[in-house]
Amino acid sequence: MPRFPDHLTGDGPTNPFPGIRVLERRLGREIPHRLGSNEGLDMPHRALRAHFGDAMVEHAYCYGDSEALGIRQRLADQQGIPLEALLVDAGADSLIALALRTVAEPGTAVVATGGTYPTFGYFARGQGCRLVEVPYEEAPGRLAPDLEALSAAARRERARLVYLANPDNPGGHLHDDAAIRQLRETLPDDCWLLLDEAYHDFRDDAESSFAREVLPGVFRLRTLSKAHGMAGLRIGYAIAEPATLAMMMKVRIHYAVSTLTQAAAEVVLDHPDETHEHIAAVLERRQRLAEHFRGLGAEVLPSATNFIGIRLPSVELAERVHRELLEDGRLIARPAHPNLGHVLRITAVEDALVPGRLAILERALEEG
Ligand SMILES: Cc1ncc(COP(=O)(O)O)c(C=O)c1O
Repeated sequence: MPRFPDHLTGDGPTNPFPGIRVLERRLGREIPHRLGSNEGLDMPHRALRAHFGDAMVEHAYCYGDSEALGIRQRLADQQGIPLEALLVDAGADSLIALALRTVAEPGTAVVATGGTYPTFGYFARGQGCRLVEVPYEEAPGRLAPDLEALSAAARRERARLVYLANPDNPGGHLHDDAAIRQLRETLPDDCWLLLDEAYHDFRDDAESSFAREVLPGVFRLRTLSKAHGMAGLRIGYAIAEPATLAMMMKVRIHYAVSTLTQAAAEVVLDHPDETHEHIAAVLERRQRLAEHFRGLGAEVLPSATNFIGIRLPSVELAERVHRELLEDGRLIARPAHPNLGHVLRITAVEDALVPGRLAILERALEEG
């Protein structure tokens, strides 16, 4: 397994406030009187009750379960992932930051594809890491993170960590399981793989045996922001070896996932049929959107996500379409990275399929 920084390998740091839920589990009994956590337990919350109702307010008073056991149990039961290989945090973004904080000390090199999900680079730079970027592999109908280039850069730069979004954002490309295994094998032993699987639930094979594997030397990240529609509540999870998660727990902001978010996520996870229905609807819309734009001659990239990527013939055209749509109150995504200025990304929501909604793009394609 790749190594951890020296300051984490000894005893501590120890979370000073694991919270009452963790204490109850350690003691094996409930603690009915909460007199020690300085929470505002006697706040009347008239305004909050009037706005959101009593049920919501009950989740406002107390610090949450820092181990998010209820969520982890549901994920473990539903997906067959070992409970001790799951860690819950405030979205995949938080987990990216946490993974960096756990293994990539300031000054160390980290590697990513130039133009992929930019939050990784943002956090890596903020952590004081040296961000090394490799270009995408581009060919007609293909915009894929170049796994060989990532691996070569990791070796050359003696990188501490390689980031890969799979499926990728903004292209939507999915590398298969064998390619991911091979990437891990070709990385240096002391280099971590941060595998961002934010769009995992949209994969056709989302429930495969590989999907529940705990991969040594790998942080797998997933989120409830996309397929579960909970982006505003901030919750996601990591799948990794228990020893790796124990290190993450040493530097994690322990109440980052609110009590309300945990309660809401439990309800959503308890109703998987609704999530499956949503995923099926997204996939159907993605297909309609892709067919529509292919029919207009656009190069729509194959996507295993909840969006489509369209590669335009030039950066100038993509910039103009993006700007004119925005001026008209229609926000689609155009990556800020210079490598991908010619790519537009459209989320497969019903609004994108409303006739005329993306007429500016349609006209540009017809003209050009
Ligand atoms: C690849 C990727 N990772 C992470 C995220 C962020 O997910 P979360 O809302 O769980 O922080 C996104 C959101 O767009 C994403 O595209």
